[in-house]
Amino acid sequence: MRDMTTSAPEPRTISTIGVIGLGTMGAGIAEVFARNGYAVVGVEQNDEALARGRQYLEHSTGRAVKREKMTAEEQAELLGRITFSTALKDLADADFVIEAVVESIDVKKGIFRELDAIVSPDAILATNTSSLSVTEISTANSSPGRVIGVHFFNPAPVQNLVEIVRTVVTEQSVLDEVKALVEALGKNPVVCGDKAGFIANTLLFGYLNHAVSMYEGRYATREDIDAAMRFGCGYPMGPLALLDLIGLDTAYEILETMYRQGRDRLHAPAPILKQMVTAGMLGRKTGRGFYTYEGPDSPTVVADDRTPSADGQPQLKHDIKQVGVVGTGTMATGIVEVFAKSGYDVLYVGRSADKVDGVVAAITKSFDKQIQRGRSTEEAKAEVLGRLTGSTSLDDLEDVDLVVEAIAEDLKVKTTLFENLDEICKPGAILATTTSSLPVIACAQATKRPQDVIGMHFFNPAPIMKLVEIVSTVSTDEDVTETTRALVAKIGKVGVSCADRAGFIVNALLFPYLNDAVKMLEAHYATADDIDLAMKQGCALPMGPFELLDVVGNDVSLAIQRELYLEFREPGFAPAPLLEHLVTAGYLGRKTKRGFRDYSQR
Ligand code: CAA
Ligand code: NAD
Repeated sequence: MRDMTTSAPEPRTISTIGVIGLGTMGAGIAEVFARNGYAVVGVEQNDEALARGRQYLEHSTGRAVKREKMTAEEQAELLGRITFSTALKDLADADFVIEAVVESIDVKKGIFRELDAIVSPDAILATNTSSLSVTEISTANSSPGRVIGVHFFNPAPVQNLVEIVRTVVTEQSVLDEVKALVEALGKNPVVCGDKAGFIANTLLFGYLNHAVSMYEGRYATREDIDAAMRFGCGYPMGPLALLDLIGLDTAYEILETMYRQGRDRLHAPAPILKQMVTAGMLGRKTGRGFYTYEGPDSPTVVADDRTPSADGQPQLKHDIKQVGVVGTGTMATGIVEVFAKSGYDVLYVGRSADKVDGVVAAITKSFDKQIQRGRSTEEAKAEVLGRLTGSTSLDDLEDVDLVVEAIAEDLKVKTTLFENLDEICKPGAILATTTSSLPVIACAQATKRPQDVIGMHFFNPAPIMKLVEIVSTVSTDEDVTETTRALVAKIGKVGVSCADRAGFIVNALLFPYLNDAVKMLEAHYATADDIDLAMKQGCALPMGPFELLDVVGNDVSLAIQRELYLEFREPGFAPAPLLEHLVTAGYLGRKTKRGFRDYSQR
């Protein structure tokens, strides 16, 4: 073992890289190193697996050539830097070895034990484990000080984050050199301690597991769960498609390890995961997981018996000509704009003439901005404004075919409105609420026609956000649900259907994840900057959790988290004390110029 008491040792020269396991991750990692000019020795357990690993590499670099991101010569050069082997002893000359074999502590320890007799005493040994204890893996080697976690994200050539996991015995020089190595690859390192799941997976897998439970409980279809997160939050892929990319066997092991370490019920793998793994439905790698793919290792989804049939498109079972909107706030104004732009006559009702005029002013402003950018015309503006009729009397809604209310998020206020709508609107009119957290059934019960009441949860800003959650209660008529689905498609939005539970799909999946990020910060495991970076660059999310919380508002987030906790009584959903304290202190986010970050100087 090196003497750690003397002055800093000379940095190693790292030129040859060993990669053990050329599966989903190993092949990607080998590609990243080879792209950056390193000589790579890739080791697999047998010839068949080796051939598959080589194929991954040829396929991935071939795609880059097809997209003209790389020339055929560069591809040949890159592949020429990689040698393939089935014998660990071929790693004898490697300066840095990273293993990316199955997520099993025994297999990994076996490899680190064997490496002892193979590599030079100076070589750095890394594991790409997603959740297992790097410390425990390191104890299998006679020099645990040179063992470190180097956690790439999937697909490794694309995601720019690498979590570097230092154990209590990792030598400082090893950490420094690995950091420099990761930077030389053009990736961003984040250093964290050895805790199951590290930063990103700790936050990601609770969310993924929750999505699987929703699917398993038939709360929504796989397509709707995935579309909800893509179109509601701008995620690059939905949670179930992501699990197929990660691999369900790997995901199961990660959850299992996280559960064993933290005993958080929310990390106990959803039972269906185990069933799918047992059935060999491992995701893209076996051609079948939550979705069915063209073949093993293909990213192309093909139709299967769960794919909604093209003939089964929802129809407008109710005739919708005139739409009523109640409210004049941000959401109501956006909804008025959306319907009017889709060619509907819209009658909207506000509490005062000023508020009613404000809607026209806001829509005019929104059009002017689009006209300035060349995205709309004065004629289109005039046409849309010509479809609007403002009123201060609910009685004017007597002839509309659909009413969407977007008034204060207060159950008493909403139920009173529904009582009124029940008296005013013609029979058969659909009565919709755009509540984001209140029970739709309570609005329905305020009327004598609960079968006509439904949730239409638009996202802010409504003219831009594509998603609408269509929330049917236990009383909603099927024709009403179908008509609403058809209507949502007609106005150019993506509709997803779900039942009437707190948070519907998006908020129920999003806010516990944000809350978990706050708990991680509170526990001083990582900084807000590192957590934001990890989620943006490891999982390609458009915003980090703290950036998003400050935009949404901590008061709003706390209220939603409380609703979720009250409905599901899940201890893991209890709002993080830090979130409560920030709200008490008035640090609500960007709107008060201070939240998780200080915006007073910006
Ligand atoms: N290998 C290499 N490159 C790939 C790739 C793969 N498997 N899949 C896609 N790419 C490349 C494409 O070649 C393309 O490159 P260029 O821009 O240079 O042409 C680029 O990525 C975009 O690909 P596509 O246009 O085909 O598809 P897309 O834009 O839909 O992106 C995606 C696909 C990169 C997978 C994107 O959807 C994404 O980032 N999804 C989120 C993935 C994620 O969350 N990963 C983290 C998982 S958790 C984890 O890794 C930790 C763990 O321990 C489990
Ligand atoms: P995978 O199943 O796609 O690949 C594992 C590969 O290791 C297989 O090709 C297998 O043949 C090979 N292998 C198994 N035992 C071996 C041995 N003794 N010697 C040599 N090769 C051996 O799994 P994966 O998704 O690539 O995961 C690999 C590691 O990376 C795991 O620790 C996983 O937790 C971690 N990881 C996975 C992801 C992901 O999204 N899949 C992301 C980051 C980290």
